[in-house]
Amino acid sequence: MADLTGKRLLLIIGGGIAAYKVLELIRRLKERGVSVRVVMTAAAQHFITPLSVGALTNERVFTDLFDLNDEREIGHIRLSRQADLVVVAPATADLMAKMASGFCNDLASTALMATDKPVLIAPAMNPKMWDHPATRRNVKQLTADGIALIGPEAGEMAESGEAGIGRMAEPMAILAAIEEQLAPAEQPLKGRRAIVTSGPTHEPIDPVRYIANRSSGKQGQAIAAALAAAGADVTLVTGPVALPAPDGVTTIPVETAEEMLFHVEAALPVDIAVMAAAVADWRVAEAADKKLKKTGKTPPKLALAPNPDILATVAGHGNRPELVIGFAAETNDLVKNAKAKLAAKGCDWIIANDVSAKSGVAGGVMGSDSNRVHLVTAAGAGGDDAWPLLSKTEVAARLVARIADHFGDARPRRRDEAEAHPS
Ligand code: CTP
Repeated sequence: MADLTGKRLLLIIGGGIAAYKVLELIRRLKERGVSVRVVMTAAAQHFITPLSVGALTNERVFTDLFDLNDEREIGHIRLSRQADLVVVAPATADLMAKMASGFCNDLASTALMATDKPVLIAPAMNPKMWDHPATRRNVKQLTADGIALIGPEAGEMAESGEAGIGRMAEPMAILAAIEEQLAPAEQPLKGRRAIVTSGPTHEPIDPVRYIANRSSGKQGQAIAAALAAAGADVTLVTGPVALPAPDGVTTIPVETAEEMLFHVEAALPVDIAVMAAAVADWRVAEAADKKLKKTGKTPPKLALAPNPDILATVAGHGNRPELVIGFAAETNDLVKNAKAKLAAKGCDWIIANDVSAKSGVAGGVMGSDSNRVHLVTAAGAGGDDAWPLLSKTEVAARLVARIADHFGDARPRRRDEAEAHPS
């Protein structure tokens, strides 16, 4: 959660039944240390009273443009500019129409015209009013004017029981939108491209049978999601898994190692490659095109052929990503084996998984939600790091923080430079 302490909000409450939900929003904002000043329209005061709002904000509630006291004490210009953000909730069809056309005949609309701060609105109205061409036009205009919208949502209307889009977003969703405006999440990898492999591969024996492994794809998908949250443009090439595709990521489902390699190479060039897939080392040399039958007594012999090593191919590619990261599943000599694998594959970092019984992950790492890893880096490219037992989401977050640090350096070092001049 971002620190919102000391941030200042001007909250304009419009006249709709959803106004009662704004009391909850004010409480949450105050809990987060936000100072909230409120302007209520005349219509808003039919739904909730300035008294209850003032009791929650501990501040005077502003209602009238021509109140001389207001002018002397603060004035609508200062009121609208002393805030870091202006929020309108509920934003009625009437208020939105005024904002879209620049009317200012009361304190709320005047403050909205006078502000030089970002504005976020939480519309709430009857679904027919939301669908009306006039509201459609106003939404388009407000968006073009740089005003952010949260909601409305689908659901049943409090007053009429009608269903459709028009319900004000819930206070917690409005709070999240406010947080995003006041303290936007850092996107240290914005402009970087990344490819992630994940999950098992399925190597066919015949049309109905295959060789596979127990990889769940959880760690790879968590990494893809964390890279995307850090602003990277992410392509995830995943073998068959039972997980929904992560949001904000281009997901390419594949079955075999050869398909995985094809799509990985097609996604190059990228800046970052994280090869988390448990790729089958061998495939059946000649998969049968018809289902194998149990004819005779002797079971069929499966001749195996080696699969391409996707990690090694990417690390040795003419279009090599700047940072190539692999995984290593080890039961013993974790760091020693991981270092050997790092050199053999030519990658920059290895995430060494402790898959032994002493890893502390109940039931084993594969399929579990937690992971104990050791980050091993090429000589001189940064310190090695033993991480404690973490959730796979936390492992992903830590890894992405390390990746962001790497790209945050003034001039990223290529691996050959790092080896020539260890720091
Ligand atoms: N890898 C790959 N393509 C393969 C095999 C592995 O891209 N055909 C990648 C994996 O995604 C992982 C790393 O290489 O990043 C793991 O290497 P691997 O040699 O398979 O090591 P382990 O799975 O640890 O197995 P082993 O110790 O038996 O070699």
